[in-house]
Amino acid sequence: MVATASNKRVILKRYVTGLLSEDDMEVVTTEAPPLAVVPAGSEAVVVKNLYVSCDPYMRNRMTRHEVPSYVSDFIPGEVLANFGVMRVISSGHPDFKAGDLVWGITGWEEYTVINNPESLFRINHPKLPLSYYTGILGMPGLTAYAGFFEVSKPKKGEYVFISAASGAVGQIVGQLAKIIGCYVVGSAGSDEKVSILKTKFGFNDAFNYKKEPDLEAALRRYFPEGIDIYFENVGGETLDAVLPNMRLGGRIAACGMISQYNLERPEGVKNLFYIVTKRLRMEGFLVFDFYDRYYQFEEEMAGYLKEGKVAYVEDVVEGLDAAPAALIKLFTGHNVGKQLVAIARE
Ligand SMILES: NC(=O)c1ccc[n+]([C@@H]2O[C@H](COP(=O)([O-])OP(=O)(O)OC[C@H]3O[C@@H](n4cnc5c(N)ncnc54)[C@H](OP(=O)(O)O)[C@@H]3O)[C@@H](O)[C@H]2O)c1
Repeated sequence: MVATASNKRVILKRYVTGLLSEDDMEVVTTEAPPLAVVPAGSEAVVVKNLYVSCDPYMRNRMTRHEVPSYVSDFIPGEVLANFGVMRVISSGHPDFKAGDLVWGITGWEEYTVINNPESLFRINHPKLPLSYYTGILGMPGLTAYAGFFEVSKPKKGEYVFISAASGAVGQIVGQLAKIIGCYVVGSAGSDEKVSILKTKFGFNDAFNYKKEPDLEAALRRYFPEGIDIYFENVGGETLDAVLPNMRLGGRIAACGMISQYNLERPEGVKNLFYIVTKRLRMEGFLVFDFYDRYYQFEEEMAGYLKEGKVAYVEDVVEGLDAAPAALIKLFTGHNVGKQLVAIARE
């Protein structure tokens, strides 16, 4: 049973052009809960959302695409959807029962009916903070793990550069790279983030790219012998500055290009010819393609957390009223660590 008569939710007000603003979203309360009990014969589950994640790709879903994008567009007037941590409160599915803890795609609302519960992942380490399943133990963690090990194909001793390095994905990539003995430098947009990279995550070095008038020259200073692996989170000028600094046979794991997400016309990349001359491999990837490795990843990462081998920083705001502003922080750089919204603790 849903223990409330209402359901607070965040809806998309209109398709977004340019920089996302709070006005593009609205927090509303519907009088009726989504569903009191799962109807007989349905295999849906009703969940109570505990934490929902703020992720950069949500911005893409807020644009109306003439040609279908890699994820479906949100629909104005409808609730936003993204990864979250949930407790099942009612189930028509034989594999789920009330009380189960799961993570996966849900609504930005208090309660959600999930019609395809097969898409949900079970939470096997509930004694670790449940919010971690929006980040280090969830989608961004798997992104970091698969993007680094499967796409970058790292070797001990290699030189690794990570942009947006203190964020949800970047902080994990850097620590995985340290675990296998790479030399790791990260860039971030504030001195506070740079300090966290060096002191908390154990990066070999880090710098504030906003204070570097010549990014290409800065990278030459931090990598006098060049970069073997670039974990690409931002694109744009950063990618252009990285390309001449890559070593022969270097790899670029193209995870995301957040600097482009709010632009109406993407910037061009000028230095692509280095891909030829330095025999680089630049490969894009999507985390969805690695879902079949999730539980193996969960075990490994939970082990690192329990042994204290990785640190983790998250930026938690309280309540759905704060969710629109929290999402915008990703694009202004005001999030420090993994951005998420706490809706309920149990
Ligand atoms: N391929 C996949 O399956 C997959 C999955 C998850 C995430 N991603 C991608 O991975 C990247 C990182 O995601 P995340 O969740 O870890 O986000 P995040 O790093 O926690 O937050 C976003 C950060 O991006 C930086 N940023 C924002 N606007 C920027 C701009 N115009 N230029 C340069 N930097 C900017 C800011 O950090 P600073 O203050 O340091 O600039 C901001 O804090 C994103 O590109 C995302 O789309 C891809």
